[in-house]
Amino acid sequence: MGSWTFVITMGKKEYNRSSKTKEKPRIMKNVDSEKRKKEIIIELESTIIDLGVDHLPTFGGKYEGGIHLQQISDEIAPCIYDLKEYNYKFRNFLEIGAAAGGNTYLFNQFFDFDVSIIVDDNRHKKHGMRKETLKDVNYKEFIGDSHSKEAIDYLESLQLNYDIIFIDGDHSYAGVKKDFETFKQFLNYKGFVIFHDSAANTQVKPFVDELKEEAKSFSIIDNDKHPIKLFGDYVGKEKRLGITIFQIYTIPKGRSNDGM
Ligand SMILES: C[S@@+](CC[C@H](N)C(=O)[O-])C[C@H]1O[C@@H](n2cnc3c(N)ncnc32)[C@H](O)[C@@H]1O
Repeated sequence: MGSWTFVITMGKKEYNRSSKTKEKPRIMKNVDSEKRKKEIIIELESTIIDLGVDHLPTFGGKYEGGIHLQQISDEIAPCIYDLKEYNYKFRNFLEIGAAAGGNTYLFNQFFDFDVSIIVDDNRHKKHGMRKETLKDVNYKEFIGDSHSKEAIDYLESLQLNYDIIFIDGDHSYAGVKKDFETFKQFLNYKGFVIFHDSAANTQVKPFVDELKEEAKSFSIIDNDKHPIKLFGDYVGKEKRLGITIFQIYTIPKGRSNDGM
């Protein structure tokens, strides 16, 4: 697969522009070297930093504000890079735990989804900013506990499968496990599940480590029995929360598979 570079103009100023003038990331193919990859990731990081974070001591960056992202730039930038390198038109995105909506906004800027679905209990103090942050994003949301029957009923009612599911809601061991086990049924074949806080959170890490262990048995010929593949693991240099991506080779039951 060829590497890519991009021209992007969605910094702090552009963030306030109307959707008519706001530019999406543009991708140019065929630049092929590790050096160029590093340069692109650094460029990506700087673009992400310009969008603003929720809390400087936790996430680093330049300023608190903008999209109030709750991600560390040198974790989320290579994660986005690798998913772009996968070179697939991802259509539907599901985020469990969106808070101010910064991460939903960010992913949509890079992947231009058909639709983004959010499940969030609106207990984060900045949840009220989500509407403004996502004003140009095609999204729908379920407000309530991700572990409730109503959340599952809501997703069932949408009749969608997802190419990417981002899990960043309840950070207890039981909570993150339940989110994974509940929502993976809505994943397309070869879809991606992303866990945030997979390195630093003492409850999330053990569950993600179990999946990593399971992923060691992944086999392309036996993937109905061993469907979980480790796709990427991202841990920042100075600040460390951790992002882990798995790709799951399970054909969704009871819904048609629109997957890769
Ligand atoms: C860490 S924040 C999400 C940050 C966001 N993903 C980002 O990167 O900008 C976690 C969010 O999940 C919500 N949450 C926690 N437990 C939840 C649950 N059981 N069901 C739904 N939402 C939950 C919180 O209220 C909060 O809005």
